[in-house]
Amino acid sequence: MTDKTKLSADEWDELNFPRPEENDFDRVVDRALNRRGFLSGVLAFGSGAAVMGTGLLSTRAALAQTTSRFPFAPIAAQTDHAVHVPEGYKVQVLASWGDALFADAEGYDIAEGGPVAKSDRIFGENTDGMETFSYMGHQLIAVNHEYTNNDINLPASQEGVPASADDVLKLQNLQGVTVMEVAQGMDGWSVVVDSPFNRRIHHNTPMQLVGPAAGHPLLQTEADASGRQALGTLNNCGSGKTPWGTYLTCEENFNGYFGATGEMPSDAVIAAGYERYGIGAEGWGYDYHKHDARFDVSAHPNEPHRHGWVVEIDPTDPESTPVKHTGLGRIKHENAEVTLARDGRVVVYMGDDERGEFLYKFVSNGVYTPGGSTEGLLDDGQLYVAKFNDDMTGEWVALTPEATGMSAEEILIFSRQAGSAVGATTMDRPEWISVNPYAIEGYCCLTNNTRRGTRTNAGGDETPVGGPNPREANQYGQIVRWFPNDDDHAAQGFAWDLYVMAGNPEVHSDAYGGSDNVTAGNMFNSPDGMAFDQTGLLWIQTDGDDSNEGDFAGQGNNQMLAGDPVSGEIARFLTGPNGSEVTGLCWSEDRRTMFVGIQHPGGSWPMETGLPRSSLIAVSRDDGAMVG
Ligand code: FEO
Ligand code: CA
Ligand code: CA
Repeated sequence: MTDKTKLSADEWDELNFPRPEENDFDRVVDRALNRRGFLSGVLAFGSGAAVMGTGLLSTRAALAQTTSRFPFAPIAAQTDHAVHVPEGYKVQVLASWGDALFADAEGYDIAEGGPVAKSDRIFGENTDGMETFSYMGHQLIAVNHEYTNNDINLPASQEGVPASADDVLKLQNLQGVTVMEVAQGMDGWSVVVDSPFNRRIHHNTPMQLVGPAAGHPLLQTEADASGRQALGTLNNCGSGKTPWGTYLTCEENFNGYFGATGEMPSDAVIAAGYERYGIGAEGWGYDYHKHDARFDVSAHPNEPHRHGWVVEIDPTDPESTPVKHTGLGRIKHENAEVTLARDGRVVVYMGDDERGEFLYKFVSNGVYTPGGSTEGLLDDGQLYVAKFNDDMTGEWVALTPEATGMSAEEILIFSRQAGSAVGATTMDRPEWISVNPYAIEGYCCLTNNTRRGTRTNAGGDETPVGGPNPREANQYGQIVRWFPNDDDHAAQGFAWDLYVMAGNPEVHSDAYGGSDNVTAGNMFNSPDGMAFDQTGLLWIQTDGDDSNEGDFAGQGNNQMLAGDPVSGEIARFLTGPNGSEVTGLCWSEDRRTMFVGIQHPGGSWPMETGLPRSSLIAVSRDDGAMVG
């Protein structure tokens, strides 16, 4: 049997929902034309802002004075089982999978598999998005635990296949979100065990569904006839932070937890949604459906509709009920980047990470005022989807009943189909989005898309080569950025360019060699996590091929780089242990520590022997100066 836990989410979807190959001759010709058009753009790219909207040039040139600098000497690519940072910087492991958050879980044995009763009292596995919060003198970190490596979480099982309800419960407990207090002492940072703020939110934590789609029949289940009381948050990938100090956790590959022990639902609307979101009878190796009926879609067909949302958590109140915001749409959410429009309306940018899926934007009806009511600010508003034109302009298309032919509720529950209905641009797997704090512009990592130009997305939409997705069978990825018209994130129109096209200039001399700001000294593939710091540097984290061979020779392990948004210069800052993905980034209140996540490391990292443990690390400077 194929060990499905070793497949990426996209590979699993491909296996279970194979897409037709394109073979339309006209489309191939179009692609070639588009590619030629883009290459002239690539040649212009290295000369800086020449391909961008001219309105921004003066601002950006001025910013170059203050932001075009790296406070470190870039490091070389690495292939070992260690974390490397530049000279003058140091690394400390802050929290690892299995560490006690509460004293009653101390001694939890991850190698042997600790008791299920304590599995929601420890730091979960596979950290991802995270944010820091300062509250009444306490420093809190809210951090996602995206998924589990079942074989090492269930050491007594057959290749990680759960054999009992307790096995499933343990996996459910080890994922979700940790909220924890951290403190810095003589020996560096540590978790404050038993802090009243410490909390584990997992696959069974009660949540509220709110917003325009809450209560809709498609969200109602036998256990919750109201359609407003869900359990659990699934596959928590990227994150976000609201101006009012709450944490946003984003449900990504939620589909993989569901399966069927009987007939799949026959209702046409439900079946179409399953097809688009990749919900099948087998599930993704978690086998929840065999031991926890809630995940058996033959019995509970609407349960998957209660996942795939952005969830808001108040990290300062461990008794608070997390809230799923239907207003932000249901997709395989990567992160949720919150900013404000000129008039104070709340703008949330969101990517849907699957090959050929879309970029979204939400604009609230109400405005945010510090200290004022935040009721409805993540629900009452308009959801848009992005259309990119080859002439380097684009528009956010409003997903309305008139434009989509769908009801307002269905647009939110099946946002992917709504995007298809208005002809949104199929993207190369949108991962994190980040908004520049010093310029009105947004950046999105398009991590890669090895099927670009050869397969449709799950909805049958073509994936033509061109625009911000300029390379067929794109194995390297790129970062697209957009410049909203009128310097207003609420604007419908924008100009765009590519901040970087990753590639390998040692292997390729064409577009696969990357844009001009990619060199043999800084090359990488598959940009994924991303965040701006307060100085305006863009930190880029990778989740790609770390074989260091062939197309990826010389790129080494996954890594974190810093980019200057003005000059385009990019420098490697950190390399992760072999096998790992570097994901999740936030800063201590004094900005003297940068917290970075290391997910699914190989070897025995961070120890010499034993199981590898996904961990948060604290990066600081030897001289104690600020780190971004
Ligand atoms: Fe969980 Fe798209 O990364
Ligand atoms: Ca990611
Ligand atoms: Ca990724």
